[in-house]
Amino acid sequence: MDRWCGRVALVTGASSGIGAGIAASLVKNGMIVLGVARDVERIKKLSDSLGTTASGGKLVGMKCDVTNEDDIKSVFSYAKDQFGGIDVCVNNAGLSHSSSLLTGDTKEWRNMLDVMILAPCIITREFM
Ligand SMILES: NC(=O)c1ccc[n+]([C@@H]2O[C@H](COP(=O)([O-])OP(=O)(O)OC[C@H]3O[C@@H](n4cnc5c(N)ncnc54)[C@H](OP(=O)(O)O)[C@@H]3O)[C@@H](O)[C@H]2O)c1
Repeated sequence: MDRWCGRVALVTGASSGIGAGIAASLVKNGMIVLGVARDVERIKKLSDSLGTTASGGKLVGMKCDVTNEDDIKSVFSYAKDQFGGIDVCVNNAGLSHSSSLLTGDTKEWRNMLDVMILAPCIITREFM
């Protein structure tokens, strides 16, 4: 991980679960992590608990609903202004509605596709 020390990572869905775990691990390895999710307060709490490491690692939280393209573009614009860009992109945000093919709700299917298919495509394009 030494080569990534001081570099910048974007982690989507950093407010809980696997994304919070990845964000914390990258910070401990000296990365500057821009963690995004809708519940930015949870990311800020995690950031406070991690602080800034001896190698300069830290977690910066930003509110972003990945189903909103303007929110995504704001994240990349902020990262460019603050850090000069992003070196590592972790498309982690996800959710699952209990919504089966036979009885499911179209809105819930659309939400899952937006968060887990379309958003990672937009984020990857903007990252590259
Ligand atoms: N846990 C498992 O066993 C497992 C297995 C296979 C795949 N996965 C995948 O791994 C990823 C993380 O899973 P997890 O278990 O850590 O889930 P989790 O604890 O429910 O966390 C999901 C994260 O995604 C974020 N998110 C959801 N909708 C969002 C939106 N519209 N905009 C921005 N962020 C959004 C949530 O943040 P906010 O609610 O604050 O926005 C949260 O931070 C998901 O993609 C999941 O599908 C998990």
